[in-house]
Order: sequence, then structure tokens, then C-alpha cells
Amino acid sequence: MFNTPLVLSFLLLLSFPLIFIFGPKILHQKHTEISIPDEVDDIALFRRATLYSIGKRGGDGGIRAVSRLGITNPRRKIAFLFLTNTDLHFAPLWERFFSGHGDLYNIYIHADPSSKVASPGGVFDGRFIPAKKTERASPSLISATRRLLATAILDDSMNSYFAVVSQHCIPLHSFKFVYKSLFKSTHSPVHRSFIEILSGEPQLWDRYVARGESVMLPEVPFDRFRVGSQFFTLTRNHARLVIQDRKLWRKFKLPCLNKDSCYPEEHYFPTLLSMEDPDGCTHYTLTRVNWTGSVDGHPHTYYPNEISPELIHELRESNNTYSHMFARKFSPDCLKPLMDIADKVIFRK
Ligand SMILES: *[C@@H]1O[C@H](CO)[C@@H](O)[C@H](O)[C@H]1NC(C)=O
Ligand SMILES: *[C@@H]1O[C@H](CO)[C@@H](O)[C@H](O)[C@H]1NC(C)=O
Repeated sequence: MFNTPLVLSFLLLLSFPLIFIFGPKILHQKHTEISIPDEVDDIALFRRATLYSIGKRGGDGGIRAVSRLGITNPRRKIAFLFLTNTDLHFAPLWERFFSGHGDLYNIYIHADPSSKVASPGGVFDGRFIPAKKTERASPSLISATRRLLATAILDDSMNSYFAVVSQHCIPLHSFKFVYKSLFKSTHSPVHRSFIEILSGEPQLWDRYVARGESVMLPEVPFDRFRVGSQFFTLTRNHARLVIQDRKLWRKFKLPCLNKDSCYPEEHYFPTLLSMEDPDGCTHYTLTRVNWTGSVDGHPHTYYPNEISPELIHELRESNNTYSHMFARKFSPDCLKPLMDIADKVIFRK
């Protein structure tokens, strides 16, 4: 019935536009590290954490109800989520920060397995979570952060705040100060997440179209697209919200066509939280960063000659209700000058 050569040439003709449509996608898939097996692992982990927290009947609300009745004095904890692809240069400084507060915090480390990060020992021992490769200009940093959040939710139901830090971050205050500010605050009776959420930034459109002109639609129209630092401190409710999300992740996991405008981790979290619960967020971060004279998307890096008590005091200053609690980014050789002023300056308050 069919003329075979004609059918073949028709198929051949048909395949040309297909190559143009799918060719670039197939090529770009190679640059995406979110492989299907990784994605399957993640979904299983996020589902476990979600089910667990439903079973526990709601972190924040549940715990608050107990303390109002005054039956117990539950020890809420801060989960410190270290996201790194090198050794933890400031481990001794953090060790001193945590010292004496064993029941008020937990540590979780996601270290890129290809960089063979060594455990610094002490409080960091045994705190490495199953990790996957992370890379700049890819959604892998979003996945790593979500893995940390899910693991911390599952690990301890008393984890109530989740602070993401990197190997370049340092504390600017004592643990006691940070803990009191987060939990005993009179500023806001309802605990909120400290996450920067900005709109109207100059680069925003380029970042929005980095995956293609209308790829983000309809889930993320441009006027809902936000930017902010990936170093944030979330409440348990918001941590749960982030690991439950499928809708926005489907868009943000797509590879960028324009690598120069590709910082998915700076957009995914602020966009998601500003859509779902803007009033539950302070819209600013507790982690100070210096963007003056930034190069290639990296902020100013502090070197040993810049470390002084004055710098610490200056970095703490903020225009918000809360002083900055953490700062980045510091070169590894800042450890010694920082240790020298740790007790007298950094952990004094
Ligand atoms: C921020 O970085 C610039 C150099 O890029 C430096 O001159 C300035 O002192 C830094 N600001 C603070 C508060 O450290
Ligand atoms: C506070 O706001 C002023 C004015 O916008 C700005 O110049 C200053 O750098 C801000 N200070 C901090 C610590 O962010």
C-alpha cells in the first residue's frame, strides 16, 4: 500500500526538525549532573522525610504547643548544614563555637565526593551525609541543600532551625548569642526564616531567561522570580516545604543555555518561599557577604591582613532587626588570625 522509498524520505524529512528541537536538549543533558538515578534517590529521601514529619505532626507548631503548656522544656536545636567541596578550613573555629552546647545543635556535612574531603574530626566526625557531585552553574547545589534539609529533618525532630553555611563561612557571635536570638526573640513571636528575597535586581531578567525565553512558564512568571543568597536559615516548616516541592524544581533543574547567568541556587529557594509563605520570611539573611568589587560572581574574599576585631564588629552590623550571625567569604589562611581573636572578640558576645 505504501511506497517504501517515499515513506523513508518522508521520515527523513520529519527527522530534521526533530534534530533541531531535541538536539540541543540532548547535548545539554550531558552537562546536567542531576542524573535519573540521583533524582530517584533524592525523591525517595525527600518522601521519607516528608512522611516522617507528617508522622511527628508538624515540627514548629507541635513543639510550641508543648512549651505553652509548660509540661516540658524541650531543647530545640539548630541544624548546621555545611555545604562544601573542599576541606572545612575553619573547623577549629566552629569547634570552639559549638563547644559546651552539645545538646542544642546538630551538624550535617554534604561534601562533593569527587573532592575527597577529609573529616576534621571532633564534632564533625560521623556527620557526613551521603553526597553527590556539586558544580557551579548547575542545579546540583539546590539538590545538595535539599539533601541536607531532608537528612536533618529525619535525623532529629528537635532540629528547629536549619542554617546553611559553607567552608568559607565563619561565625560572628557566640553560639549562645545565636541560639538566643533565634529562639528567645521578643522581636517576633512566630519564628520566621531568615532568607534574602529580592526583586528588581539588575541581572534578574538574564537569570530568568538563562534556560530559554519562556521555559519557566507557567509555574514561574517573571514577576514572581526572586533572587537571594543561598546561605539562609530556615524554620522546620519551611525546610519541609522545600523538600516537598516538585512543581518549581521541575523548572529550576533544567540546564541553562547561558552559563554566565546560571545561578539556580540563588533563585530557587527565594522564589519558592516568596510564593508559598512570604510573611513567614524576614527577606534578609543572617550571613554577611561583601559584594563590593566582586569578580566573576564571587564576593570579596577576606585575607589574613584584613582580620581584626574592628572587621568582626563591622560585619556584625546590619540594617535589620537582627545583627549578622555569620559571614563569608574567608581564605583558609585566615584561620590563625581568627583563632587569635576568637575568645576575646568573636565569642565574647
Ligand atoms: C568590602 O570589600 C572591599 C574590597 O572589595 C573593601 O574595600 C571593603 O573594606 C570591604 N568592606 C567590609 C565591610 O569589609
Ligand atoms: C545599610 O543601608 C545603607 C543605605 O542603604 C547602606 O549604605 C549600608 O551599606 C547598609 N549597611 C549594611 C550593614 O548593610
